[in-house]
Amino acid sequence: MRIDIITVLPEMLDGFVNTSILARAQRSGLAEIHVHNLRDYTTNKHRRVDDYPFGGFAGMVMQCQPIDACISALKAERDYDEVIFTSPDGEQFNQPMANGLSLAKNLIILCGHYKGIDYRIREHLITKEISIGDYVLTGGELAAAVIADAVVRLIPGVLSDEQSALSDSFQDNLLAAPVYTRPADYKGWKVPDILLSGHDAKIKEWELAQSLERTRRLRPDLLGE
Ligand code: ADE
Repeated sequence: MRIDIITVLPEMLDGFVNTSILARAQRSGLAEIHVHNLRDYTTNKHRRVDDYPFGGFAGMVMQCQPIDACISALKAERDYDEVIFTSPDGEQFNQPMANGLSLAKNLIILCGHYKGIDYRIREHLITKEISIGDYVLTGGELAAAVIADAVVRLIPGVLSDEQSALSDSFQDNLLAAPVYTRPADYKGWKVPDILLSGHDAKIKEWELAQSLERTRRLRPDLLGE
């Protein structure tokens, strides 16, 4: 999978892309992440990418020209499955959406900034608008990082134990069961006996019961309750 991220703050993403799970995925050749500085595509001699909004509203708006130039340059090289725009008014990101995007070959993620982007870009070039939650961030870079992380870790072979992505919280619309490691008794805080029993079938039963109990208690909405 290839992900092209377009931003006015590439330095915000460079570190993340080169240290996290994304770095591991790139080293093993399973993903390629390219961060593009939107300012490299503006025809403005002062490298400006925004301007005042028509109508006298407050704030600045990202202009069509550099965004169109960057997306067009990328599309000239390959086909993209989705051109994503990160925005608080997008569709709320969740695990099923991450699962769907993990099947893509090429994705563009455009990070929003300032007051927004010229709406014509959203009408003509964007195929999917994603919000990572009902709060407003200063820019879309953190949202792009969240989406890239959640999607890339689902590519087979990226996680060392492939099973671990399957048992994640939300993968079956259930929260994950608690996990424990050695020692079995820490300051009198005990690991549940069943996990030390070696009885695989009973352990699986316990795990499912725990998942259901935690989901019912903490996220009943996931069970439609
Ligand atoms: N940009 C600003 N806030 C955002 C949010 N909640 N999700 C995605 N992009 C954003």
